[in-house]
Amino acid sequence: MSESVAPLLAATPPRPAPRPRVLYPLSLTINGVPHTLQVESSVSLLDLLRERLQLTGTKKGCDHGQCGACTVLVDGRRINSCLTLAVMQDGAQVQTIEGLADGDDLHPLQQAFIACDALQCGYCTPGQICSAQGLINEGKACNRDQVRELMSGNVCRCGAYPQITDAVMSVLESEQPLAAESPASEWVPGTVPA
Ligand code: FES
Ligand code: FES
Repeated sequence: MSESVAPLLAATPPRPAPRPRVLYPLSLTINGVPHTLQVESSVSLLDLLRERLQLTGTKKGCDHGQCGACTVLVDGRRINSCLTLAVMQDGAQVQTIEGLADGDDLHPLQQAFIACDALQCGYCTPGQICSAQGLINEGKACNRDQVRELMSGNVCRCGAYPQITDAVMSVLESEQPLAAESPASEWVPGTVPA
């Protein structure tokens, strides 16, 4: 080692000790099953579901709230699970795609997506179906245009939008036959309730 470099190395400050992991208690009911967990505050609900609980039906697309692949239902409302920290949902009821079927009986939306051929690669499909259930829960969509608008947060790279709309409409019409005549509330184009 040359004499000119040695003083520089000697002056390098020691590395700081790694911070201790801080864990927070978290209680969630996921697909009807209660979970008591300890998580770091930075863990998203999406990562908790996929990495910790192996519920990999919920997909990670962009991880930035732009594709909708990670959509789940929290207390019946659809949210992008990549955009919420798990600790923010303490005490909540979470429903993922794994929780929609009743044993071997598929959920009506799952049946409709199959019947309408509303998927190609299927990567967006869990998010599309959870979002569609949230849309139906909201009671604001009454026709194809409103379904398309209010599902616009869910991107399908395969372009299966016409068939997705067919599938959602078929369930919407079977569950809310009078919706077109008496919408539950007004909606504003360009906005997606979240
Ligand atoms: Fe959450 Fe894309 S992964 S919106
Ligand atoms: Fe491939 Fe939607 S079916 S992204």
